[in-house]
Parts: sequence; C-alpha cells; structure tokens
Amino acid sequence: MYVSDLALNDFRNYAEAVVSFSEGVVTLLGANGQGKTNLVEAIAYLATFSSHRVSADTALVRAGASGAVIRAKVVSEGRPTLLELEIIAGRANRARINRAPARTRDVLGVLKAVVFAPEDLSLVKGDPTDRRRYLDDLVVTRTPRLAAVRSEYDRILRQRSALLKSTGGGRRVPDALMSTLEVWDGHLAEAGAQLIAARAALVEALTPHVSEAYRSVSDGAGEASLAIRSSLEKAEEGTEGSGAGEAADVATLTSRMVAAMQRLRRQELDRGVCLVGPHRDDLVLGIGDLPAKGYASHGESWSLALALRMGAFELLRAEAGEAPVLILDDVFAELDARRRARLAEMVAAAQQVFITAAVPDDVPAGLDGQRFQVTAGVIEEAA
Ligand SMILES: Nc1ncnc2c1ncn2[C@@H]1O[C@H](COP(=O)(O)OP(=O)(O)O)[C@@H](O)[C@H]1O
Ligand SMILES: [Mg+2]
Repeated sequence: MYVSDLALNDFRNYAEAVVSFSEGVVTLLGANGQGKTNLVEAIAYLATFSSHRVSADTALVRAGASGAVIRAKVVSEGRPTLLELEIIAGRANRARINRAPARTRDVLGVLKAVVFAPEDLSLVKGDPTDRRRYLDDLVVTRTPRLAAVRSEYDRILRQRSALLKSTGGGRRVPDALMSTLEVWDGHLAEAGAQLIAARAALVEALTPHVSEAYRSVSDGAGEASLAIRSSLEKAEEGTEGSGAGEAADVATLTSRMVAAMQRLRRQELDRGVCLVGPHRDDLVLGIGDLPAKGYASHGESWSLALALRMGAFELLRAEAGEAPVLILDDVFAELDARRRARLAEMVAAAQQVFITAAVPDDVPAGLDGQRFQVTAGVIEEAA
C-alpha cells in the first residue's frame, strides 16, 4: 500500500500542508527541527493513533491552535481510501472515511505502517513501557477492534488504582468500597484478558520473523528470542492449579485475573497499585542465552531494535499479502554498513518508504527517489 496524498492543518509545526507522494522511495531532507519527523508522525498516527514520540495528543496540535486535521489518501491493492482525522486537544478524535463520518476505530487498519526511528534503541535498553507500546501498536494494527479495549483498559486501570489509593492502605475497608472494588476487578480482568491473549498470539506469530531478521542483520551471531514476562503468572506462583504455560483463551484468563486480584487484595490495598495485568507485563528480549537488556552491546542492541521493526514489517506483509508503508526516521546515520545494507533490503520489499535525513549523504546511494525539502513547517518537492 502507499499514501498518495497528504494534507495537514495545524499539525505540529505545520499550519497547512498539501502534498502528493509517489510510490517507491520518498526522501524528506532538511536541517534539524524543521518538521521532517512531524510529517511522518502524521502518517504513522493514522495507522495506530499512537505516536512514537508522545503519549498525549495535545503535543500534536500546533501551539495556539485548537485542533489538528490529518487527511490522507491511501491506496491499497489499487483502491484509494480517503482518511480524515481531526485531533481536538482533550477530546475524542473525529474521523471520516471517504468523506462520510466514521467511527475512529474504522480508520485503524486502513493504513498499515511500520516506523523505525532512533528512539527504538529504547525497545532494547529502555523500560517496559516502550516494549508494551511496541506490542500494543502491533496488536491494534493486526486487530483494530482491540484499540477500544486498549483505551478502555487504561481507563479502568486509572479508576481502579484511584479506588485502591482512596482506602489509604487502611486495615478496615468499608463493605461498600469492597464490593465496588470487586466490580472493578471484573472490568479490569475482562479488558486485561483480551490484551494478554492478543499479545501472546502476536509474540508467537512475530518471533520467527524477528529471529530471522536478527540472523540476517547480525550475520548469524546468536539467536534472538522474545518472551512475555507475565505479572499474572508471577501472582500465581505457588498456587494450586496455576495456569502458567497453558494456552491463553480469554475466558480462562479473565477468571485467572480475578482470582489473582483476590489473592493480592491485601498487597494492592497496602500499596494502592494494581499489581496484575498487561500494564505490569514486559516483553523480555534475549540474544543467545542472555537477556538483551543489560547484556547486549550497543551494536547488538541496534541490530535487535532493527530486527524488531523488520520482523513487524514482515509479519504484517505476510498476513495482509501487501507491504505496510515503511517509515525510516533519521536512522541511516546511526547504522554501520552491514545494518544499512539489511535495511536497504527491507526498503526494496516495501511499496512505499519514507526516509528522513538531515543531509543527503546519510541516505544510501540509489535510495533517493522522490525528494522533498522541509523548512520550518513547509514541505516542497525538490527540483
Ligand atoms: N505542537 C507543536 N506546535 C508547534 N510547533 C511544534 C509542535 N510540536 C513540535 N513543534 C516544533 O517542531 C519542530 C521539530 O520538528 P521535527 O519534525 O521533530 O524536526 P526534524 O526535522 O528534526 O525531524 C520543533 O522546532 C518543535 O518546536
Ligand atoms: Mg527528526
């Protein structure tokens, strides 16, 4: 698939931009701070409603403006679809598909994109939040309906945490509050179980693609592995009939979540924190027999970060029968010759690739394609 047209209003540092793109390689050049990343971020946002740079939508709206609009024409298997998303700070997004009002979640899944950016090093070196976002963005891309579950889970989590805190860790919790808490246990378990199951299925499907990508990037130096470290399984340790290692169907996971919360009641009340659920899980990355975090060299960490994105690209391509749009934000300058060459292979497999770079020399020869210059929130096709 590819994006043939993009229009932005009050998005980041773009007051207004209208631009047409060709298939193949699209290069965005410009000095730092001009808006290259902002532009590809707009495209990526249509794919997952999440940004690789911020968690709050407020930053996406141009300073001083009340809302931003992203419009894009996406061509998939030769058929164009017009997507329009209005981002209003502090309110729900509004969407249109082919000019008709639509549910925002129907926009998800129309455009599939994979972004590789310098920030991705934190997938290997950073805290679990980044890895959970990596998984959940892919979960939503594969199964758009789960976008609603993802935001519902976050909402329930906030409410339940607030409720736990409101007891002040007291020994005597009023009955009414206890039964309210049980209601929230059920809500958290239902939404959480769906995310746990979807992440497990994703990791299973993704692992062979990431392993293969890592082999090719690292020249066969060690096997990459992916595994979920589950807060639910941890909570079940030493209990009778723990479901650890079992096939994860949603109904079973829901009751296991509820049981775990009952067992951890005292601890959760003392600490005022929700201790089980997908928000406490991590994606453990390994190289050979060692965990990547804390052990991998800088070069290995880059290889693994690249393999995670290449693996995601290959998985989506295999499942959709069509390559997602590939976005390479300022990454060539960071990579050595070998990793550049592997990345160039992935570029060849995509129908459209956006490459941003501060200087043309950072883009490998033969990958320049259609060229744009970005200057202070203005994009112009280069002569
Ligand atoms: N919401 C916003 N409103 C106005 N300007 C913004 C907003 N968000 C980011 N910017 C500006 O965008 C610029 C960064 O653009 P970016 O796309 O990251 O640059 P680069 O070309 O280096 O990738 C900064 O100057 C920043 O101040
Ligand atoms: Mg940038």
